[in-house]
Amino acid sequence: MINDNSAYLRERLNGFEPDTAIVLGSGLGKFTDLIQDPIIISYADIPNAPTPGVSGHKGSIYAGMIGKHKVICLAGRTHLYEGLNPQYIAMSTQELQELGVRRFIATNAAGSLRTEMPAGSLMMISDHINFSARNPLVGLGKVPHFADMSAAYSPELRKKIKEIAERENIKLFEGVYIMALGPNYETPAEVRLFRNFGADAVGMSTVPEVITAVNLGMEVLGFSVISNLGAGLKDEVLSHEEVLEVVSEASGKLILLLKKFLEEV
Ligand code: HPA
Repeated sequence: MINDNSAYLRERLNGFEPDTAIVLGSGLGKFTDLIQDPIIISYADIPNAPTPGVSGHKGSIYAGMIGKHKVICLAGRTHLYEGLNPQYIAMSTQELQELGVRRFIATNAAGSLRTEMPAGSLMMISDHINFSARNPLVGLGKVPHFADMSAAYSPELRKKIKEIAERENIKLFEGVYIMALGPNYETPAEVRLFRNFGADAVGMSTVPEVITAVNLGMEVLGFSVISNLGAGLKDEVLSHEEVLEVVSEASGKLILLLKKFLEEV
């Protein structure tokens, strides 16, 4: 299965060997505008790839140069709440590695657990809590187990990102992301629990990809665009449409930050 997909992608990429993978979360699809003349591969054409079923996700791969990097953007991800086997995520990250990827950047939309980090904020992930009760490495016989997660989100790259954000006047929060399985949003009691755990933002993605990327020895960065305050922190009803709208408005900051990063680092 891995070989099928890798072979298909290699053929479509036609000699282009990406070094950086960027997974684009809900509402972040316009990041792909940074790539001039991208090679575009629809997930539907990849032999063994499930297609993302959530609106706000494009469901295609865009490959091309951004700055000094050969980038492969996954515009649209599948989520565990779609019923996907977590091992699939491990395998697709491994396919990226087989194509040449050494650096993995995950982005997502998330709810804030801190009132001082309101909707529209940008948070760089410093660490995560896997509260999904799923792990993509379970049952993968061949991969090494017991990956060290003590510096999952590269301290060196985070330092560079902070320098760029300061220089470009981009307000950047840094904090802990907690993954809930979803697909429902949290209850106010869960939001209080997650805050007490020490988390700063909650979402339904990113953690499985990051676990597999770290396990494969990749350098990892993660970013959350805050689309709303967590349930109960404000008197509002959460909706996916609202999430997409806020993220799309706030995504410019993240796109600028990543553009500069790919040009410089
Ligand atoms: N909770 C979980 N996932 C999310 C949220 C949230 O409040 N907002 C966007 N994705």
